[in-house]
Amino acid sequence: MTDDEPTYPTYLKLAELLSLQVPRSSPEHPDELLFITVHQSSELWFKLILHELGKLRDSIANGRVLEAVESVGRVNGLMRIVTAQLHALDTLSPQGFSQFRRNLGTSTGGQSAQFRAIELISGLRDPDYLEYLKSQQPLDPIVERALSQASLPELFAQLLSQRNLAARTLYATDDERELRLLAEGLLSYEQEFAMWRFLHVEVIERVIGPGTPGTGGSLGAKALRDTLGNRFFPELWAVRAEFY
Ligand code: HEM
Repeated sequence: MTDDEPTYPTYLKLAELLSLQVPRSSPEHPDELLFITVHQSSELWFKLILHELGKLRDSIANGRVLEAVESVGRVNGLMRIVTAQLHALDTLSPQGFSQFRRNLGTSTGGQSAQFRAIELISGLRDPDYLEYLKSQQPLDPIVERALSQASLPELFAQLLSQRNLAARTLYATDDERELRLLAEGLLSYEQEFAMWRFLHVEVIERVIGPGTPGTGGSLGAKALRDTLGNRFFPELWAVRAEFY
């Protein structure tokens, strides 16, 4: 074996990776490692989801519909994984978390730039939200980049208009099955994302209760319940009603 021949630990940079979980409680609370691990691994999955969303954007922008269908299928699988991880925190007891929560200061998941970038690329761009994001100066480059790019619903709408199609046509006839498959994949993505939001609120209520303010200063679960109705693809949802 040569010196630069990779091994499992060197290829994966395991020494660095496994040195990054650093509890702040002293003496160390036995549940802080769980809390850190679920957050860090969520960020790793967010990184991959962002990467895959970039590929999905390219496929849609270039009219490669079946490639986009495959791509959104992968993103949906990744979303299910990141959502499933939240269940690990169901086992965090309220009394246990209260013992190390003070060490978090004002840090909060609301500061996750990757999560914000995912929301932006997925199409969450209402004026209030954009104003809130832009007030968080300096903007993280990941957020800035997402803001400068067309969102998934914008790209999908462009694709339909290039082909002189309306969303309704995809459902009213069987002539555009591939595009309909993509539309349905995007709706499934929206559902997977909503599942994350829902389970996250459930975890918060389970661990700190429904009315306890967050470390980031929000009204906690109460405030996040308002985000459960957010829609990335309102047109694709609305088209259903046109058949009734
Ligand atoms: C015990 C577990 C958790 C609790 C008690 C909790 C609590 C909260 C609270 C209260 C907020 C609202 C902002 C604030 O005032 O702080 C929030 C936002 C957020 N948290 Fe968590 N969280 C937990 C786990 C997680 C995990 C595992 C992740 C994964 C990365 C995460 C990511 C986020 C994100 C992205 C937001 C912003 C959501 C939005 O604005 O729509 N949280 N969290």
